[in-house]
Amino acid sequence: MAVPWWRDAVVYQVYLRSFADSDANGEGDLPGLRSRLTYLASLGVDAIWLNPFYPSPMRDSGYDITDYCDVDGRFGTLTDFRDLIEDAAALGIRIIVDIVPNHCSSEHPWFQQALSAGPESPARERFIFRDAPNNWQSIFGGPAWTQTADGQWYLHLFDASQPDFNWRHPDVPAMFEQVLRFWLNHGVAGVRIDMANTLFKDTELPDRDMASPVVPYYDQPELHGLYRSWRKILDSYRGDAFPGPRGAIGEIWFTNPDSARPYLAKDELPQLFNLRLLLTPWTARELRVVIDEARGLTTRSGASLPWVLGNHDITRVVSRLGIDQALIRHPTDALRRGMVPGDLSLGTRRARAAALVLLALPGGAYIYQGDELGLPEYLDIPADRRQDPTFYRTDGAAVGRDGCRIPMPWSGDVPPYGFADRPLRTWLPQPSDWARLTVAAQLSDPESMLNLYRAALRLRREHPALGDGEMTWTETGADQLAFTRDPGFGFFANLGDEPVGIPPSSRVLLSSGPLEGPLLPPDTAVWLQQ
Ligand code: NOJ
Repeated sequence: MAVPWWRDAVVYQVYLRSFADSDANGEGDLPGLRSRLTYLASLGVDAIWLNPFYPSPMRDSGYDITDYCDVDGRFGTLTDFRDLIEDAAALGIRIIVDIVPNHCSSEHPWFQQALSAGPESPARERFIFRDAPNNWQSIFGGPAWTQTADGQWYLHLFDASQPDFNWRHPDVPAMFEQVLRFWLNHGVAGVRIDMANTLFKDTELPDRDMASPVVPYYDQPELHGLYRSWRKILDSYRGDAFPGPRGAIGEIWFTNPDSARPYLAKDELPQLFNLRLLLTPWTARELRVVIDEARGLTTRSGASLPWVLGNHDITRVVSRLGIDQALIRHPTDALRRGMVPGDLSLGTRRARAAALVLLALPGGAYIYQGDELGLPEYLDIPADRRQDPTFYRTDGAAVGRDGCRIPMPWSGDVPPYGFADRPLRTWLPQPSDWARLTVAAQLSDPESMLNLYRAALRLRREHPALGDGEMTWTETGADQLAFTRDPGFGFFANLGDEPVGIPPSSRVLLSSGPLEGPLLPPDTAVWLQQ
């Protein structure tokens, strides 16, 4: 059987609102992205995952949707989207869109109908209304229930502006089947499924026991029938600009790999993000465990877990790896971490080494926009410019995710750094010291993070081992990560405090930082020809 395109694809995550602004309204848009496609082609990526660009009041930056089959005016039009698909295809780049099935916006017509129709009405059945709440907490902080004027409560695992659908109501799966087909008919190569394990809730809506690993809104059995039906739809689309079936990647924050395995059955989701990597401290031992878990899931099912170092929900990798690593084990801490300034030069050195890990492992990889520039988390956003509902729902106790969503610096010495072509107020402020981090500045610096990514992606395409080459761990010291890929590729990273010898009789193809003669300094990785 032919290897499906997503198995070892490098996907670039475009957070559209912060990518490139063509109409100078302070927010990125589809024409802006089209104008920068050649940047992505020369970086060497195979596909783009686009965060939601659908009509939305933007209470959760587009994850609160009022119409699943259109483009929000701030981002362009459906024609712009079709043009994007076409232009990207001409450059050999596929497009993946975000499907957000757990909840919609409270301004979605169905929710508005539910509110006005009142208790016991059929319109309320499409959501989860009850006369009294249970003890569930919103993932953004505060209770997961909000009371309406008539006294009933509705469930929202996220912000109050994001009511959860009742997936046991037939209208809900029927609508999402239409949504899926709508974007597939537009030529998308795959979908990313937001919160793929929370759509169905335990029918009893029991209180959550925080001491128990069982979460009553995770992993309900009906999900598997749903994903089997979606897989059939995805597999029925072939051809157009690219051959082969369409992909799907689920967002599931699992801690136990056994809970992820059922989703990866042959006829369900072909991929889940390897989000565990985002919460793993920079130690060789822990990274190795997480890598092996993902490889275990991959080989058993034929599906795979692409490697991820960053996304729009997590503190930027250069900042994350520069703080006390004990702080990064739990997602809640991850949201709070923005408050802890770290050692950026240490974090950057580690992030460079981590990029070489990401791109040397077997399987696909996702690169979050700006990580190829080594952008740090922006910690000093004034409170009145913050947007993330997490900040507001916790009264500022958790700063939220704005710091990793700052508009991209393209060129120039001052904001907006070429994000738009004139001075303006961007939707989130940009730091004043990013001139050295712009794309233009980094392209002309051979030692830049951008040139490291470009070199790694080029070698990844050229080296015969970096497609399907078998991976084998090499036994080394406890603080090193070392493996080979067949034929002839070696990876070696030093996560310890002392320099270590590079295996003799190998030639260095790429190094994440300067070497000390035959020694590999701390927090440095090399790709080797053996
Ligand atoms: C996960 C998304 O990645 C995140 O950005 C969003 O806030 C939540 N799901 C709710 O849709």
